[in-house]
Amino acid sequence: MGTPNISSQLSLTLVIVLISFFPLNCYSEPIKGMFVFGTSHVDNGNNIFLETEGKPNYLPYGVDNPSGPTGRFGNGKTVIDAFCDHLRLPLLLPFSDPSAKGPKIASGVDFASGGSGILDQTDSHSGKVASMKTQISNFQQTTLPALEAQLGMKREQLLANYMFILESGGNDITNTYFGGPVTQTIEVFTTNLIQLYTGYVKNLYSLGARKFVIMSEYPLGCYPINRTPNECNQTLTNAATMYNAKLKTMVNDLQAQMPGSHFVYLDTYNILNGLITNPSSQGFKDAVNPCCGVWEMGTMRFSPCDKNKKVCPDRKANVFFDGVHLTEATNLVIAAKAFTSTLPTEVSPINLSQLSTI
Ligand SMILES: *[C@@H]1O[C@H](CO)[C@@H](O)[C@H](O)[C@H]1NC(C)=O
Ligand SMILES: *[C@@H]1O[C@H](CO)[C@@H](O)[C@H](O)[C@H]1NC(C)=O
Repeated sequence: MGTPNISSQLSLTLVIVLISFFPLNCYSEPIKGMFVFGTSHVDNGNNIFLETEGKPNYLPYGVDNPSGPTGRFGNGKTVIDAFCDHLRLPLLLPFSDPSAKGPKIASGVDFASGGSGILDQTDSHSGKVASMKTQISNFQQTTLPALEAQLGMKREQLLANYMFILESGGNDITNTYFGGPVTQTIEVFTTNLIQLYTGYVKNLYSLGARKFVIMSEYPLGCYPINRTPNECNQTLTNAATMYNAKLKTMVNDLQAQMPGSHFVYLDTYNILNGLITNPSSQGFKDAVNPCCGVWEMGTMRFSPCDKNKKVCPDRKANVFFDGVHLTEATNLVIAAKAFTSTLPTEVSPINLSQLSTI
């Protein structure tokens, strides 16, 4: 009568073996981490370790961080830090930080670099920063193999539970196109950017990425450095709108072409524009003046804050921290909307809470 016992033991073993081989398909797992690619808006400190002038490693940057300046382009948390809080993940280390190794990378890595662009040539305006191509290659060549070895999993299995956050294009438009000389029309230029962008996303998909958050570009003409006290620069804002329309089409096209993928388009343009036109709706008092920076004859003198310069006393009152970058308070609003909004004008077709439970 020993046979049934053996066979039930065998089937139990079989079940255990099956569960350990195919754990991901049976139920949805929480998000294990995030990989971030893009510009200063989503850079958690990479530039500190790179050869560039664009290093916010001095006060008043980080004035509201418990540990002071960290290489983040603002007074405190980036929008990426706020995403981590929503997902209950530890804050991401920048790829270039030598301590970004071992178990610390299991919850993801931030590859973004301030001043970088979709075009390699955009970086030349900012020194040796990491372009989108370099950022993705850093992920592919270094982080992904390390993670596979560490977790003992193949990339296809592993990456399904990570979010891939991308934000780029603004520096290409403001620094490369309008910093000129570029002979193309803005129409052709933005189409070319989207073509390159599409290639980068396809590359990530081929590595096993499935959950994508594509952030739009912000209303570029309303950055303090690009506007006058009275009005936004319409040329730059129109360029951002044109780019974003193509970006949204890219997202819809890729979603249709890539089986098993989930794309979210986070409309940071609309969200920020809402704050700029109606700051008090979210408790802000000033959406024109940055917390640090000086107006001179109708234009901003500095984009980066001066070292140890005076900073506005109430950082929660201002939308902008410097001539280009947002305050922590603004980043928290954007992240809250990303995770909970039900408005397709802010996040579509689903929000990040839903993306994280798919
Ligand atoms: C807006 O920005 C563009 C590009 O930098 C510039 O050429 C133009 O003079 C600006 N317009 C105004 C009204 O300042
Ligand atoms: C967004 O997230 C919230 C909170 O998880 C959820 O209740 C809501 O249905 C979502 N909205 C949309 C439009 O997906």
